[in-house]
Amino acid sequence: MRFRATLVALCAFVLAAGAHAQQPIVVKFSHVVAVNTPKGKGAERFKQLAEERTQGRVKVEVYPNSTLFKDGEEMEALQLGSVQMLAPSLAKFGPLGVRDYEVFDLPYVFDGYADVHKVTDGPIGKALFRKLESKGIVGLAYWDNGLREMTANKPLRTPADFRGLKMRIQSSKVLDAQFRALGALPQVMAFSEVYQAMQTGVIDGGENTSSNIYTQKMHEVQKYMTVSDHGYIGYAVIVNKKFWDALPADIRTALEGAMKDATTYANDIAKKENDDALEAIRKSGRTQVITLTPQEKAAWKKALVKVHEDMAPTIGRDLLQEIYRETGFDPAKL
Ligand code: LMR
Repeated sequence: MRFRATLVALCAFVLAAGAHAQQPIVVKFSHVVAVNTPKGKGAERFKQLAEERTQGRVKVEVYPNSTLFKDGEEMEALQLGSVQMLAPSLAKFGPLGVRDYEVFDLPYVFDGYADVHKVTDGPIGKALFRKLESKGIVGLAYWDNGLREMTANKPLRTPADFRGLKMRIQSSKVLDAQFRALGALPQVMAFSEVYQAMQTGVIDGGENTSSNIYTQKMHEVQKYMTVSDHGYIGYAVIVNKKFWDALPADIRTALEGAMKDATTYANDIAKKENDDALEAIRKSGRTQVITLTPQEKAAWKKALVKVHEDMAPTIGRDLLQEIYRETGFDPAKL
């Protein structure tokens, strides 16, 4: 009898161990934007490739639109291990204590994606990722969204048009300085709250990419949009370090490969996603789209270049000079 009981217990134990071993490793990937965006599609592509290449040993659960964690919550959730993967905007790393990332928020420092990639694909990008390790975070990749445009319920053509406006910003000191330089009142707010705040008048306007403006329907609650291309929004795909280091080596290698290919895909589609969104906004007729003349754009650059000097101590003067070297940006030429 005792022998049989031991045998049954042993079988049960082996079965349970087997079942557990077959449990897939779950990667919860939380983000704040819609699915039909560069980041939304990038996350879905990573899920597809990761599950394929690990033959189902990894299961990626993607939570878009702040459905799992919203701005202001997601970084802590990652550090606690309540979520394994995020792709926050580069403008949201300041509260983590790495304000260096706000160099990406500087107005007009990047002429386009090629300039950004000189930084993200080079030594600066790697050095910025190293700064996350002490926070228990590993940086895996940089994903593009696009250039920032302005929206409000009045036409924004000149720097003076911003005076006194309550403008929503991401949690970045550089973006705060940018709007103060225009005489506006910056308001940090979670992305998920922007549409309603615009609809109810809690804020007068904001800045974002065409893709985010369109997919969050901000153009339906803002009478005017100015195509100013005055800044950039991009992302760092990050994971919890403890989770990542504990992965079986073959799984980590497969996920690195999946991330590499998902990154190529996400960055390949980013420009078209934004161009198509801008076209859709124009076609919607819900907001008047203003394109700045070269003279008007020059006036914006003149008004905003002081932000570089004002924020150099926060970002780090050496980093700023490195960025200028990489992009060829010369504030004196504005
Ligand atoms: C924002 O908060 O405006 C954006 O960073 C959202 C996003 O992730 O694109």
